[in-house]
Amino acid sequence: MLAPDGRVIMISGANRGIGLAIARALYDAGYSLSLGARDPASFADITGGWELERIHVGRYVAEDQDTHRQWVAGAMERFGRLDGLVNNAGIWEDVSLEDENDEALDRMWAVNVKAPVSMTRTALPHLRRSGSGRIINVASLAGKAVYGSGIGYTMTKFAAVALSHATRHAGWDDGVRCTALCPGYVATDLTAGVESVPFDQMTSPGDLAEVVLTVLSLSNTASIAELVINCRDDVMM
Ligand SMILES: NC(=O)c1ccc[n+]([C@@H]2O[C@H](COP(=O)([O-])OP(=O)(O)OC[C@H]3O[C@@H](n4cnc5c(N)ncnc54)[C@H](OP(=O)(O)O)[C@@H]3O)[C@@H](O)[C@H]2O)c1
Repeated sequence: MLAPDGRVIMISGANRGIGLAIARALYDAGYSLSLGARDPASFADITGGWELERIHVGRYVAEDQDTHRQWVAGAMERFGRLDGLVNNAGIWEDVSLEDENDEALDRMWAVNVKAPVSMTRTALPHLRRSGSGRIINVASLAGKAVYGSGIGYTMTKFAAVALSHATRHAGWDDGVRCTALCPGYVATDLTAGVESVPFDQMTSPGDLAEVVLTVLSLSNTASIAELVINCRDDVMM
């Protein structure tokens, strides 16, 4: 098992939803955190009262790779090490096969796929030096099965799962382990308009954060490649 003390974890989209729940759980467990968001000022209310020596905030704009490099460089300057990256920030837009909405496809591809690829490339050299680096990609059940004719979000989440497997292969010999987290409906702003499952019966962000804590604590000899988590009795929907 890996103890949290002294280990540094970066989380994108840590200002609300699943990312915020992960940030809170990891902080309470004793990790040092570098929190990324489009508006770093949004962390002021969240981190009030937290130990400043364990917190760094950075600007993370998914579509702007300069912010990725600057955020990682800032975290390294602040802590001198990096042990984990949670690629969490993501968006959902409704695009079906016969909708001609390439702009929405491009937006989701940029945020849900290209940005995690860029963050992984940027963080990987530092995670390799850790000897037990961890990357968790917040994918989705939509990255494991396709229902109906939706093609936008689900394609990006299949890509996030593929990225996770490629990352595990790339980093394996240096102790980097990568997990694709694949939840179904989670009670956040993203699902506020969902009618098929009542909001209070969706998986809580806090339960996902507990799972992330466990994944981060496991030794190099206990790699979890994919984790499917659901609020319903079906495995994949
Ligand atoms: N909720 C679910 O049911 C569910 C299920 C499976 C997987 N997921 C995945 O879980 C992750 C987190 O989702 P959530 O439910 O917590 O959603 P959320 O509450 O809507 O939060 C989304 C987060 O992503 C950030 N973000 C969005 N676009 C961005 C951009 N262009 N650049 C930088 N940051 C951006 C948001 O920042 P701002 O505050 O600046 O907008 C926010 O921090 C996503 O990858 C999502 O696909 C969610």
